[in-house]
Amino acid sequence: MKFTIAFAALVAVAQAATLVEVLTSAGANTLIALVKSDAPVLTALSTFKGTLFAPTDAALAATVKAGFNASDLTALTQVLTYHAAPTVFTGKDFTGTAFLTTLQGNEVKAATNKENKIQISSAFGTPAANVVKSLEFDGGVVHVVDQTLIPPANVVSVAKAAGLTSLVDTIVAAGLAETVAGLKDVTILAPTNEAFAAIASVAKTLTVDQLKQVLLLHVVPGIVHSTDIVKAKTLNKVATANKDATLNISFDGTNVLASGPANTAAAKVAVADVLADKVIVHVIDTVLLPKFETNIKYSSGVSVVAGAAALVAAALMA
Ligand SMILES: *[C@@H]1O[C@H](CO)[C@@H](O)[C@H](O)[C@H]1NC(C)=O
Ligand SMILES: *[C@@H]1O[C@H](CO)[C@@H](O)[C@H](O)[C@H]1NC(C)=O
Repeated sequence: MKFTIAFAALVAVAQAATLVEVLTSAGANTLIALVKSDAPVLTALSTFKGTLFAPTDAALAATVKAGFNASDLTALTQVLTYHAAPTVFTGKDFTGTAFLTTLQGNEVKAATNKENKIQISSAFGTPAANVVKSLEFDGGVVHVVDQTLIPPANVVSVAKAAGLTSLVDTIVAAGLAETVAGLKDVTILAPTNEAFAAIASVAKTLTVDQLKQVLLLHVVPGIVHSTDIVKAKTLNKVATANKDATLNISFDGTNVLASGPANTAAAKVAVADVLADKVIVHVIDTVLLPKFETNIKYSSGVSVVAGAAALVAAALMA
């Protein structure tokens, strides 16, 4: 009996390790020093409950070497708060993809790789971080990661970095660069350069206002992850920033698909769940098309994919 009580007490003590104790035992010395140098973050973490991603000393050293200025408190706060999510994600028995909203405001993506190891993705272009160790503390869990997590940039910067030059050019041509860069809490379906090339002759005939209507059809209010679509299977009449048109979005068992009112073939999601600042981006292989009341008539039965630009143009001119 005595033994049981003593053992229970021991277990209780072991489980009650504080965040600082756990970080110290994990050897996260640089992280501890950075947190101590940032008063608001130190305060936030003193009562923190949830999941903390703790970059190794080597990971943080590499980030500083790459140009990160840890003395810039604004930047430091952004990066540190991006490592803390107020929900407990233990990663135990986890497979698939999950998104955790951080104290910074943006999400990180946790996904298992082919070896069933958890990787954490952050800003586009940064390598995914491997979880090298997971440790419980009294308020949740610490995952030691081998890369610093970087908060995502705005969606226009992400589109540029991703090489979606036709999309960026079209956004600029429509006079929407500032509007799009400032979008928050939306999902953007971002067509590839090939998708724009397939409708190049059509696009040339569109007025700036029509171009705007095409682009706005690619903006869905709210954050819609590919996992949400897979779960829902079919989302019909999804409202978009184009107030006159909706999209049908679905999962066919293999691909996530989206189609606009004038698409005869659905767009396929080629790259899902790219993180941008408060925006989620799905790269698609076909431009989504609204119906226009005047000037433009899309012919039914003509696919705008498959490089059929000339055909489409002919149909549109009719
Ligand atoms: C780093 O940030 C600090 C504080 O904002 C600033 O004084 C310093 O000049 C910056 N260093 C570099 C190399 O930009
Ligand atoms: C969406 O699905 C509904 C119901 O199946 C259909 O009537 C509508 O035409 C579809 N719209 C688009 C844009 O594909």
